[in-house]
Amino acid sequence: MSNKNVLWVDADTLAKDLSGKTYIVTGANSGVGLETTRQLVKQGAHVVMACRRPEAGKEAAKTFGELRGSYAVMRCDLADLDSVRKFVADFLGKYNHLEGLMCNAGAVIMGNDVQYTKDGFEMTMGVNYFGHFLLVELLLDILKQSAPARIGLLSSVVHAGSPKNRYEVHLDDMEFKSRKYSAFAAYGEAKVATVQYALELADRLKGTGVTTASIHPGWARSNFGGGGAMMKIMRVVMLPFRNSMTNSNEESAQTSLHVLISDDAPKHSGAYFSQHSVLYRDKECRPGGWPMQSPNPHARDLAAAKALVQRSYQKVGYRP
Ligand SMILES: NC(=O)c1ccc[n+]([C@@H]2O[C@H](COP(=O)([O-])OP(=O)(O)OC[C@H]3O[C@@H](n4cnc5c(N)ncnc54)[C@H](OP(=O)(O)O)[C@@H]3O)[C@@H](O)[C@H]2O)c1
Repeated sequence: MSNKNVLWVDADTLAKDLSGKTYIVTGANSGVGLETTRQLVKQGAHVVMACRRPEAGKEAAKTFGELRGSYAVMRCDLADLDSVRKFVADFLGKYNHLEGLMCNAGAVIMGNDVQYTKDGFEMTMGVNYFGHFLLVELLLDILKQSAPARIGLLSSVVHAGSPKNRYEVHLDDMEFKSRKYSAFAAYGEAKVATVQYALELADRLKGTGVTTASIHPGWARSNFGGGGAMMKIMRVVMLPFRNSMTNSNEESAQTSLHVLISDDAPKHSGAYFSQHSVLYRDKECRPGGWPMQSPNPHARDLAAAKALVQRSYQKVGYRP
């Protein structure tokens, strides 16, 4: 049974003919990314499923059956910048247009010990933010050539923190080398970076026909949080409240689909689009909104976003 608070994309938008359009969805083999991909393919699009484990992407795509559109699975490990560069080179070798990029993949690395990617990023920040940062920057030219085109970036309501503790990106120590590591803070900061990046991109891309958005998908009953273990426990705990509090992956894909295919989303480039969040302790976040204002002032700070992007160019070793 559907949750009455869920924001749904309208039927006309979900019936649009997307044939001839190409999209990339990262993390397309699971959860929100899989359901986003399924709907795009259903509407006739071609979707490149950018997956860390291509075999998992191919397995997941078997469930598409006879849908109208098409898909291809390509490897992209966001914890490895060489893999991101190779993905883009392979993509540009095969495709000459790209109407939408959904930076959906994400991970939270649980535990008390900080882990690093091979490029030296704290793992949660590396997968959620830096891998996508390089991916977007390397695809900006083809997106501009294909305009109108859209970029969606999966954040989380967690980026808001609480009224007493709003997460912010620590540009001086994004790797947790001089402060105590916290898995939750790492995730919250990565998702602030994501909201800021959408804001900065929108400013930079004004007049190009490429628009952006950051997204909170809702409470997805996905594999998120460590091979599904955490979500399995949460699902049991939440069982009595299930119909009023939790979303299916299909419901949680609605915000991404709104951002990629609705007529309205491009009018709000750079904005934060959120599914409802009835569980969240910060009351401002609970109703969600397409778009809504993030209650976190750091996430709305364009100067901080520009500083983040300049630092990110240095860190990934790329500048357009
Ligand atoms: N679940 C929620 O309630 C919730 C709430 C707020 C925000 N979000 C955000 O929503 C997005 C989708 O999450 P989900 O709930 O659909 O979780 P999910 O089912 O766990 O899917 C996450 C996807 O990200 C991929 N991924 C993880 N590490 C990667 C890497 N290094 N390189 C490339 N891909 C990688 C996973 O691939 P593998 O299968 O190979 O691991 C998987 O395809 C994430 O950005 C998450 O932060 C989720």
